[in-house]
Amino acid sequence: LHSTSRRQRQMCIRDRNNLDTQKRKYHNGGQKKNDRESEAYVMDIRFEKREHLKEKPDQKHLGFGKYMTDYMFVMDWTKEEGWKDARIVPEGPITMDPACVTLHYAQETFEGMKAYRTAEGKIQLFRPEMNAKRMINSNARLCMPELPVDMFVEAVKALVKVEEDWVPSEPETSLYIRPFMFATEAALGVHMASAYKFMIICCPVGAYYAEGINPVKILVEDELVRAVKGGTGFTKCGGNYAGSILGQVKAEKMGYSQVLWLDGEHRKYVEEVGTMNIMFKIAGEIYTAPIEGTVLPGVTRDSMIHLLRDWGYKVNETRLSVDDLMKAGHDGTLEEVFGTGTAAVISPVGELRYKDDVVTINDFKIGELTQKLYDTLTGIQWGRLPDKYGWTVEVK
Ligand code: COI
Repeated sequence: LHSTSRRQRQMCIRDRNNLDTQKRKYHNGGQKKNDRESEAYVMDIRFEKREHLKEKPDQKHLGFGKYMTDYMFVMDWTKEEGWKDARIVPEGPITMDPACVTLHYAQETFEGMKAYRTAEGKIQLFRPEMNAKRMINSNARLCMPELPVDMFVEAVKALVKVEEDWVPSEPETSLYIRPFMFATEAALGVHMASAYKFMIICCPVGAYYAEGINPVKILVEDELVRAVKGGTGFTKCGGNYAGSILGQVKAEKMGYSQVLWLDGEHRKYVEEVGTMNIMFKIAGEIYTAPIEGTVLPGVTRDSMIHLLRDWGYKVNETRLSVDDLMKAGHDGTLEEVFGTGTAAVISPVGELRYKDDVVTINDFKIGELTQKLYDTLTGIQWGRLPDKYGWTVEVK
């Protein structure tokens, strides 16, 4: 079955420039055949060719999230039929009923991942099944339908294959992939909707922050909170991000790039920085907030923890109070601080402000370990270093 699906995939891609509309048949059957056959799901992907391809942007000035590619993946779900009508169609606006549940009650989840072009011209994804599993967990919390891991990964691979010419090759650039799901039912009662859409759009990207991998100034937010236990903090749902923007605006007004969020109950323990996980190197050990319902289980966070433990560092996934953090900043034991996330990879913190207390970290320079983590992770992602963990997945 594996070789059949690979052959069919190759056939579909080869034909994509010749036909206006075609059926992309990945699998037959409708269900997982057995546990070993992880790719054995139905994915009849219809392909609709666009008349004119877009002009590609200058790879040296991509910024983040500005230029969408030519195509998008779309699939519908209804209560009666489940997932149906998978298609890759020209990227463009979609219509929505003004009473659409998502517009009123934010029943929406998303993911963020990247495709990387190696020096040999291969295209690879990074731990895509982790994004698929996280979306399942996000959806379970928001009462949205489950999209099986295999279907998620196959859909991503199919779209990236169609868009392979959009995967940039300039240093530090990649194709950002944004899978997302939302309720489409038109009804104003608050309830689990009867219809949803799963879509994937892509855009070639450069650095997420204008500062690139240079240190940023961070303000500890002591009034607003991002998440509470029992809430949606561990999910990637749009509402979490909408609620975070005010903190960011406040921080920017005070000359800071982002906020450091404290826990919602005590406003005492450090949790995330902006939209990223955060790690602290204090007296040679690493500290990061535990995954206990309020913090996003980041793919980059998990990968960094693997690397750090492999290099012999003690990584404490534990609560760290802002008081202890500032104390470490003053007594010289706070050696490095950095945010981790798919979009920016790593974002070093050069200054922390908590109320009237300010500490500078590593003389506002990127730390040695921060740089090593960045070089190693991006080395694996772009194929410059061997992938001994089996994290990369080639798109063929
Ligand atoms: C990431 O760091 O990957 C993010 O989640 C940022 C994204 C919301 C743009």
